[in-house]
Amino acid sequence: MSKRIPMMAGNWKMNMDHVQATQLVQKLDWTLKDGKHDFGVVEVVVLPPFTDLRTVQTMVEGDKLDIRYGAQDISVYDDGAYTGEISGPMLSKLGCSYVVIGHSERREYHQESDELLNKKVEAAYRNGLTPILCCGEGLEIRKAGHQVAHTVAQIEADLKGIPAEQAASIVIAYEPIWAIGTGEVATPEDAQEVCAAIRAKLAELYSAELADGVRILYGGSVKSDNVVGIMAKEDVDGALVGGASLKAEEFAKICMFTTA
Ligand code: PGA
Repeated sequence: MSKRIPMMAGNWKMNMDHVQATQLVQKLDWTLKDGKHDFGVVEVVVLPPFTDLRTVQTMVEGDKLDIRYGAQDISVYDDGAYTGEISGPMLSKLGCSYVVIGHSERREYHQESDELLNKKVEAAYRNGLTPILCCGEGLEIRKAGHQVAHTVAQIEADLKGIPAEQAASIVIAYEPIWAIGTGEVATPEDAQEVCAAIRAKLAELYSAELADGVRILYGGSVKSDNVVGIMAKEDVDGALVGGASLKAEEFAKICMFTTA
């Protein structure tokens, strides 16, 4: 049996300035501590916009919080003339543990291809950051019943050439696009089907042992009232939470799902 520690990761997207970030992280920390949350049992991660990272770092380091944090994107380059980009060395200097790669909003609005995302995964590992690699199908693909083939093909392409020593620590987030921000949550069975297929693909690409240790999150309209059913599925090891992570109490409830 694997000992995968569940992870609840709050993807703030383009919300919260650095002042609001201070309030949200403080309130989240108090609420979790009030509820006697065991951070060793469920890992808590926040993924703020770049402009909040220094503030979050100062709080986490200054107050020795158990909350981990990361960025929402990374440049494929480590430095140079790339106006507007943020590099891996900058993120590791800010104490980031994680970086989101390939969120569907980046794939769609910024035309990020699997080839580019593969380079971003390399850039993350090169700089000591753990990717939270996102994948998932749109509504048309789901209607055609091709969600598994589509999603595992994304993972295979994004991990091309990534050695096992690195891939062993990856976090994968399965997010069916039709369930993101729509209130339309996939059923626990829908989530399990694709998460199990992703794990099987990792076993094929690497080894059963590696696949057994990788955390696979579900994302798409996760809330405190549906998280328990999703987490009951054996291949779902956590959630990537958008909207509900902007409210400290609601996100804390999601993190404390084991005591619900
Ligand atoms: P949502 O977003 O929880 O608001 O649906 C999830 C995500 O896009 O990561």
